[in-house]
Amino acid sequence: MKKDELIRLALKARENSYCPYSSYAVGAAVECEDGTIYTGCNIENASYGATVCAERTAIFKAVSEGKKEIKAIAIAGGKRGEEPDGYAFPCGMCRQVLNEFAMGDAPVIVAKSQEDYKEYALKDLLPEAFGPNNLA
Ligand code: THU
Repeated sequence: MKKDELIRLALKARENSYCPYSSYAVGAAVECEDGTIYTGCNIENASYGATVCAERTAIFKAVSEGKKEIKAIAIAGGKRGEEPDGYAFPCGMCRQVLNEFAMGDAPVIVAKSQEDYKEYALKDLLPEAFGPNNLA
């Protein structure tokens, strides 16, 4: 896993966040099975429910480019224009979407900075997940 690179790119992706309503800027970076990395930011909308999270932006970019196996993800979030002052955990919907394309032991990294981060396994953030196997 390219941990340092994922964190760096997640922090950088925050810069493109479109968050005029919450002022909470999130960036994410996903590493695919072949080592390629896709990034994403949260993109808000005046019709609030149309907002998409950074994680799903990154995952959908990967999948739409044909990369359906995600190895790891890094996420960074906090007040726009400032360094993150907390760990930005993925929302429930993003955990579910990640579960579709990642194995249960895939690392989910929540980063405040390049040096300050926590790492979890997806299955610990989404236990007893409903996933593709349930429909196989
Ligand atoms: N947000 C994300 O980008 N990822 C998450 O997992 C949680 C929330 C965004 C959505 C919205 O633009 C802002 O953070 C506040 O909820």
